[in-house]
Amino acid sequence: MASLKSSDLSASSNEEIRVKNPDDKGMGHGSMGWLEKDPRKFFSAAATRNVGGIQEVLRKYLADEPSGTVLEIGSGSGQHVTAFAQMLPQLQFLPTEYPGHPNPRADPQDAERIIESIHTYTADISNILKPQLLDASALVESDIGQDPSLLAMIAINVIHISPPSVMEGIIAGAGAKLKVGGRIFLYGPFAVAGKIEGDGNIAFQEKLKELNPEFGLRDTSVVASFASNYGLKLVEDVYFSESNNHMLCFEKISDAAHNLHH
Ligand SMILES: C[S@@+](CC[C@H](N)C(=O)[O-])C[C@H]1O[C@@H](n2cnc3c(N)ncnc32)[C@H](O)[C@@H]1O
Repeated sequence: MASLKSSDLSASSNEEIRVKNPDDKGMGHGSMGWLEKDPRKFFSAAATRNVGGIQEVLRKYLADEPSGTVLEIGSGSGQHVTAFAQMLPQLQFLPTEYPGHPNPRADPQDAERIIESIHTYTADISNILKPQLLDASALVESDIGQDPSLLAMIAINVIHISPPSVMEGIIAGAGAKLKVGGRIFLYGPFAVAGKIEGDGNIAFQEKLKELNPEFGLRDTSVVASFASNYGLKLVEDVYFSESNNHMLCFEKISDAAHNLHH
């Protein structure tokens, strides 16, 4: 197993980050911005904190897979996909990013710069494909994962910072494009049984609603129920107590999506 180059993934202190919108820490739980030492690279402190836990789950489900393509939705900086590809060198990773930006306060040029950031992190890693633009709400109609079908999909901190059509598009896309036995992993804060727990998540929900009333934490059982329509079974709900986040792990058990009209 390849070892992680942690220097590529973390900044030693926030001094190294040129935070673009100093008041805008709310899209993640912590600082984010362009690195002073390499301004082509975007950096998310949250990604350095959550990457280890996410890797543990991916290792459990994907380490024994001999080959296959893993699609990442909303890759952000490129830090996560870098770590995943180094941990699972037998698999091929496809990072993608939204062509617009869901944060109305963001700079419109961010999408292009974010793609460049992903490219800068990943260009030298042979099992990472060139980053592509993808609006996940239109994944079913896109060329991505058409042939061959995908082994796995990952979306980290995406489905609450976007309208419900994005969660629906990701799930419908998984139903259409994963191979049977393939997996989809959704990481982030969730509501459970209709309730948002924890001061941090309650405040975050308010902030999301201020940004866009359609944003917001999704309920684990609503996502699981929606996914079941697409042949996707919730096999594990991993809870991370330090961050109060979940990682929902689904397996595609059938081609049920083929019976649905989109
Ligand atoms: C908080 S960032 C998370 C980025 C990265 N996954 C991470 O955890 O560092 C939210 C991500 O969701 C993406 N996103 C929002 N709407 C999207 C859409 N319609 N299609 C694809 N990605 C979307 C954003 O572009 C952004 O990369």
